[in-house]
Amino acid sequence: MRKIKVNILRGCETGSGEYKTYAVEVEDGTVVSVMNILENIYENQDHTLAFFSHAACRQAACGKCMVKVDGAVKLACKERVDAAEITIEPYCGKVVRDLICEA
Ligand code: FES
Repeated sequence: MRKIKVNILRGCETGSGEYKTYAVEVEDGTVVSVMNILENIYENQDHTLAFFSHAACRQAACGKCMVKVDGAVKLACKERVDAAEITIEPYCGKVVRDLICEA
């Protein structure tokens, strides 16, 4: 198993967000996306985490799962996580909740 430290900027919709840190374990050799990481946190650690999820897409087609990963805007369903630590933030300033931005 490899452990990934995940820092997520949450609560910006209230005017002052804060980083929450989670530890996610994944099988060695498994390819994981940012979306996989967010779903893992939601399902196993924190049901209050809000992020865009489109079960019918997840193929970089709809473009709605954008987040900032280590400062760069990426599609969560496409962006692979290879690092031992990542930081995920909303991609824009108009935050609806946590990682969900107004389009
Ligand atoms: S879920 Fe559609 S682009 Fe990521």
